[in-house]
Amino acid sequence: MDLLKRKIETEGRVLSNQVLKVDTFLNHQIDPELMVEIGKEFAQRFKDDKITKVLTIESSGIAPGLMAALELHVPVVFARKRKSLTMVNDLLTASVHSFTKNETNEISVSQKFIEPTDNVLIIDDFLANGQAALGLAEIVEKSGANTAGIGIVIEKSFQDGGQLLRNKGFKVESLAQIASLENGKATFLDEAEVVL
Ligand code: G4P
Repeated sequence: MDLLKRKIETEGRVLSNQVLKVDTFLNHQIDPELMVEIGKEFAQRFKDDKITKVLTIESSGIAPGLMAALELHVPVVFARKRKSLTMVNDLLTASVHSFTKNETNEISVSQKFIEPTDNVLIIDDFLANGQAALGLAEIVEKSGANTAGIGIVIEKSFQDGGQLLRNKGFKVESLAQIASLENGKATFLDEAEVVL
């Protein structure tokens, strides 16, 4: 998705060989027009997968998840990292360990929002080690529904999450795949030089 890649090139800041800061359009300030295009692109990539629900995780998954759901004409549900006051009964939960932050969170979704007949599209902003997406897939499995696919805005292909999810048989679609963040620069997988 060229629009997203150009946005990463012009506004992304490489903080280290591991971390890309994109707070001007995705993780803090949000670019609504870019989000509309992201929603359209996800809808196009999953148009034949009979999606009935989008599942994402707060907070930065909500904007792309919402736009994908809008285009697919289905509801969007977001997993919570902290239980809300009103969210007390019949919760589906999964434990998600972040290697980046070295912390484990229990994420939860009310059971009533995912039916066993649902065909769920999981959406998230970043794919690093894949633990958030795996946790969401675990929640879908516990509900008896099916994970039809996983849509990611930015995949860091040099970390192992993408391979982990694809090896488990999930259809994973990433709108930008970053091969490297070395030398202060984001290099995309499809633009990386092939060294023979
Ligand atoms: P994983 O789910 O793929 O295993 O990822 P990981 O634990 O490494 O990610 C923890 C948090 O850090 C997630 O956000 C994830 O989106 C984010 N993250 C991972 N790598 C990067 C990166 O290179 N750049 C940025 N900007 N974020 C990254 P979170 O804590 O859930 O935050 P939020 O969704 O509440 O904003």
